[in-house]
Amino acid sequence: MTPIAPPRGTKDLLPDEAPAWEWLHRAHAAVAARFGYQLIDTPIFESTELFARGVGSGTDIVDKEMYTFTDRGGRSVTLRPEGTAPVVRAVLGAHLDQRWRPVRVHYAMPMFRYDRPQAGRLRQHAQVGVEVIGERDPGCDAEVIEVAWRFIADLGIDGVSLQLNTLGDKDDRLGYRQSLLAYYTPLRDSLCEDCRRRLDVNPLRLLDCKKDAHHVENAPLLGDHLSAPSREHFAAVTGHLGDAEIPFTHNQRLVRGLDYYAHTAFEFWHTSLAGAQNALGGGGRYDGLAEQLGFAPTPGVGHALGVERLLTVAVDQGIAPRAGPPAQVVICTVGEESAATARTLARQLRDRTSVVSDVSDRRLDRKLRDAGRSDATLALLVGMDEGLVLRNLRTRQQQVTTSDRVLDAVSAELLAAAQDPRT
Ligand code: HAM
Repeated sequence: MTPIAPPRGTKDLLPDEAPAWEWLHRAHAAVAARFGYQLIDTPIFESTELFARGVGSGTDIVDKEMYTFTDRGGRSVTLRPEGTAPVVRAVLGAHLDQRWRPVRVHYAMPMFRYDRPQAGRLRQHAQVGVEVIGERDPGCDAEVIEVAWRFIADLGIDGVSLQLNTLGDKDDRLGYRQSLLAYYTPLRDSLCEDCRRRLDVNPLRLLDCKKDAHHVENAPLLGDHLSAPSREHFAAVTGHLGDAEIPFTHNQRLVRGLDYYAHTAFEFWHTSLAGAQNALGGGGRYDGLAEQLGFAPTPGVGHALGVERLLTVAVDQGIAPRAGPPAQVVICTVGEESAATARTLARQLRDRTSVVSDVSDRRLDRKLRDAGRSDATLALLVGMDEGLVLRNLRTRQQQVTTSDRVLDAVSAELLAAAQDPRT
């Protein structure tokens, strides 16, 4: 029988990569907490309607990439492709905005998008993100960018650029839509198949096409259709970013792949990530989303960053922490009758450090070989004629000790090893 392979476009988190994964999640949660964000989590599956109405039919995510199925009760459900619509549903559904406003939440969640897998594009990926719900002040737009910026800085990732744009309000976009249609309709026959579809269902997305990039270059700009209040909102956001000393590029072609955005939209790009997959993260303001989901109109803004893409860059730049040994001490028994003593010693030693016991009937040299490979610092040999033997696996020095003294001997050896630059 052939061994079962993982589903295409998925990635296991193996123990070697786990410390980098934990480091990244801790860093995001820590920065978010310093800005007053609280943890939230939502179900991995939701009613399909949440995303059809929230993210929008006509987006690639909803039209082509959702994992949608009918459950045994005949309901259409979808594996979460993104976190903003579920978080808004959860926060407003629980009336959290009626206690205090705005509600600040952060999350770390897996997402599912049925896309063609390639470097940086998975069918299951994870995002860390924040949402501020219940406030339209442009200071919040700048705040969610600042949280992401500090997070990236805390990780120590270099070479990230902030691409910033404004998508105006609904009326601005209606006007802009007309001028996009006027520009693109005569070009219809020369457009790619996707763009012909976008022309009919979602003209703003025409700007995101890589194939028809030459048309995008000459397309009208949304910036020319902004009302005075939209301009003021954007000016206030850029002013706050200036105060926070966060550099950005005003990228007038940035449109984002989700329909709920209004006003601020942004992405964090990294040059080392190839082509269309160069965004480490993105976000923006979504003042119309709550209403789309059937709640009272409630403004919101947030960011989300791709965990796997961040880790790829962090590993390339040599800043991701590497896995340490599973345990500092390996107890290796010699002879069956030593197993009980080994277990007692392990129990006592675990007050001070991490310990595994190898009570198998394998030969001692095999046990020591594997203890060395696991990068443990010490091996404690139980059942030797001379008594308890404590062996430093790095220097290969060993000492004979007794059950009364073994705890202190282990502590002293671990301290010495931690201070020894050679080990
Ligand atoms: P998004 O730009 O679709 O935004 O996704 C955020 C990030 O998730 C991307 O920049 C990328 O790093 C990562 N990502 C997306 N798709 C994949 C994939 N197939 N494979 C690997 N990584 C991927 C959102 O989802 C919005 N909910 C962000 C937001 C929060 N807006 C407001 N608040």
